[in-house]
Amino acid sequence: MSGIFITFEGIEYCGKTTQSLLLIERLKEKGCDVVYTREPGGTNIGEDIRKILLDTRNSTMNDLTEVLLYTASRVQHIHEVIQPALLKNKIVVCDRFMDATIAYQGYARGLDMGLIYKLQNMFIKNVTPNLTLLLDITPEQGLLRAANKRLDRIEKEDIEFHCMVRQGYLQIAEQEPDRVKVIDGSSDVDNVHQMICEYVDEIICNNGM
Ligand code: TMP
Repeated sequence: MSGIFITFEGIEYCGKTTQSLLLIERLKEKGCDVVYTREPGGTNIGEDIRKILLDTRNSTMNDLTEVLLYTASRVQHIHEVIQPALLKNKIVVCDRFMDATIAYQGYARGLDMGLIYKLQNMFIKNVTPNLTLLLDITPEQGLLRAANKRLDRIEKEDIEFHCMVRQGYLQIAEQEPDRVKVIDGSSDVDNVHQMICEYVDEIICNNGM
């Protein structure tokens, strides 16, 4: 595949949606052919799955059901949106992808990592981000940003859960430093945007775009 696949990751309220939209704006200004999408979601089917996953009424959801629903949304997303766009040489910017499953369902829920990697090998195999921007903040900083917001099923998890998600993400970054770049998400919006642009410009240049 010849496009460029960029993902944003981080704990709740790390600022990835704001930053991905700023990046999209900049890439469009530069004349890049870019697709912005998200997980869970990104397709009609995926958006329906998202509603089930985030609905606070579904508090009895089994951890296995959860990982399978995230995977189902991803499979649909890859086939309907990501792969076709990459095949057309587009830049795909995705708000969360596979690392979220490793951090949330693997590290935080404690699901068997072997199962998670098996699902990845079976269904996601050759779709790996070229660049992952991990916006790192502490769960306490996230909680401050979440004040007065209506929390979804996952956001409602306790602080220990969100600490484990963060640690999970930092471990992934340690294991894959070439792909995953850790950015201080507590810095101001413009600073974070500048750091993101540097990494993205480098990857675009390396891909000869
Ligand atoms: P968002 O609100 O950042 O769009 O993400 C939706 C929620 O789903 C967020 O709490 C993170 C969670 N999530 C997982 O637990 N596993 C996954 O694989 C993905 C993509 C998201």
